[in-house]
Amino acid sequence: TAVDRGSAPDFTAKEIDEQPAATRRLLDGLLGRLHGGRLLGDLGLGTPERVRLVACGTSGHAAEVTARVLAVEGGIPARVVTASEPDLAVPEPGTLTVALSQSGETADVLAALDRWGDPVLAITNAPRSSLARRADAVLGLGCGPEVGVAATKTFTSQVVAGVAVALAVGARAGAVSASRLAQLESVLDGLPARLATTASLAAAPAAALADELADEPGVVFVSRGAGVPYAREGALKLEELTYRRVQAVPAGELKHGPIALLGPGTPVVVVNAEPRGRLAVGVSEITARGARAVLVGASEDATLPISSPAEEPPWGPLEAAVALQLFAREMTVRLGHEVDRPRNLAKSVTVE
Ligand code: G6P
Repeated sequence: TAVDRGSAPDFTAKEIDEQPAATRRLLDGLLGRLHGGRLLGDLGLGTPERVRLVACGTSGHAAEVTARVLAVEGGIPARVVTASEPDLAVPEPGTLTVALSQSGETADVLAALDRWGDPVLAITNAPRSSLARRADAVLGLGCGPEVGVAATKTFTSQVVAGVAVALAVGARAGAVSASRLAQLESVLDGLPARLATTASLAAAPAAALADELADEPGVVFVSRGAGVPYAREGALKLEELTYRRVQAVPAGELKHGPIALLGPGTPVVVVNAEPRGRLAVGVSEITARGARAVLVGASEDATLPISSPAEEPPWGPLEAAVALQLFAREMTVRLGHEVDRPRNLAKSVTVE
């Protein structure tokens, strides 16, 4: 490939490291365009009544975060449609379809768009892709090429782009006040620094945890609220790279099934959605079975420490994504698997 990995041991490591710079560049182009929903006008889009988000895999997790911000901050009905299951969404007037795809070539995403007549906004790292050509408007991520098959920097940038669109829609609809927007913009502005701090805080603990868990056949991931998409993404990263069995559920669902998996020492990664944590009940359910709770968060008892803003933002603990990427990569290295090219997976899936 034409991209140089420099001194990094693999492209995945390089791309994990690039996240502060990639999100900084993206935010510099977006902040200041959210007030009054200017971003939408710049993209040639009107004010939608509802939003449908279409994606696959990791991009689907960024879609979940975006849907949550639309609903919670903007009061805008938003639903995520897994691109390979488009029957679940019927045409509805006033809908904006947002397609999230790193490659812009995922066949299921392109096929799903043929079902509805809505305007389409593409959020993609490939502004000359099939998706970009098909879309009415394109928001480019500008991350530079991502070589590692498991998405890393494109995920954090998709979340930033999706959140910006959600806040612009909310502002345009009059649901997000100027002062609230200014407050959230300042939290977004601090994100690149928090991603960088998280990478340094979590590096050694991620390596130590990988040593401890390398022989575990499976890992359960839980969170609540805004943390759930990051639990899912952490689980997907671990599964893709290490071929371990994973399960990710909202903590409240543990008692409806997955708790049966827990026995002495079973690792349960708990992604804390709030700096001070509100998963106490979930954690006591885990430890009562002798399972091992691995906390990801900003509290002192965290196994994988992250840097968090003082208050939980509506997009949740995006910083946790970095810690979980580092953990998945470290475990992959220990197991001797190919980090950049996991078995059976492709960077862009151009078949339905
Ligand atoms: C493949 C990749 C995943 C990616 C998914 C969606 O399965 O291995 O990392 O999340 O495709 O790709 P897209 O390019 O549409 O974001």
